[in-house]
Amino acid sequence: MKLAHFSDIHVTHFPLSGGFALKRLAAVTSYSFAGRGKHFEGSDQRIAALLAHVESQNVDHALCTGDLTGVATERELERAAELFGDRLREPDRYTVIPGNHDRYVTSAAGLFEKHFATLCEGASFPAVKHLPSGVTLVLLDAARPTSLIDSSGLIGEAQRSKALSILSDPSLKDRFVIVALHYGLLRMTGKRDSRPHGLRDDVEVMHLLDRADVSVDLVLHGHLHRPFTIRTKQRHIINAGSATDLHMRCGYNVYDIDVAARRVAVTRHWWNREAGRYEPDTSHALNVTLTTR
Ligand SMILES: [Fe+2]
Ligand SMILES: [Fe+2]
Repeated sequence: MKLAHFSDIHVTHFPLSGGFALKRLAAVTSYSFAGRGKHFEGSDQRIAALLAHVESQNVDHALCTGDLTGVATERELERAAELFGDRLREPDRYTVIPGNHDRYVTSAAGLFEKHFATLCEGASFPAVKHLPSGVTLVLLDAARPTSLIDSSGLIGEAQRSKALSILSDPSLKDRFVIVALHYGLLRMTGKRDSRPHGLRDDVEVMHLLDRADVSVDLVLHGHLHRPFTIRTKQRHIINAGSATDLHMRCGYNVYDIDVAARRVAVTRHWWNREAGRYEPDTSHALNVTLTTR
């Protein structure tokens, strides 16, 4: 079974529409004057190329772990939905979960759901998708509007408790179980992310996923724009990084999953800016084979 995983595509459309908010204004200033806008310049073209490239890899399913937009205006969510096009009606082939930038301010409430609920089981989390190949996706949502200097996330007690009953169900024992969320559980260094940037209940979520009585093969996320793989005590975590951020070697992953052998082979693809296309990143450290349970 082949699964594509991309994240943090950040459709960015200014001037703003959909309501003033100080946090959005600060973001526009950062994009306009502090160079961040250059990271996502022309991202629409890369996103279209990304979706086409993913399809050319003959994957069975594609997962996006959030941050579709820059500041979650109606126009940005609409544009992201336009780029997905008919794929929004193909939940068997595509899954999308929200990132913090898709719920950037309180006035953005409901916009992600309006456009992308079809690809995440109605956006009621935790959501579960059983794919025909023996792979199960368990989707968590940590994205919420925050203050000006805060981009942290929270899964919360209610969602963790439901996730525990899903993941400890005996019916998942023989399936290849992937837990997907926007936020990482550890940084590339193996340390916790910072309080204003990371998941507030990272320790609790890690404790839950490391339990001996839950079925988890792989944890997938984005949010941190540089990709990497790391381990908790029991689980492999893969961060896809950003698929479109020009400030780094942006790209996406394809996982070739052998369900019976509990093995996943990772292939990294990167955006070759000069050539104007995604292509295999043959020397990337993420090209590894992992045994999961
Ligand atoms: Fe991001
Ligand atoms: Fe993020």
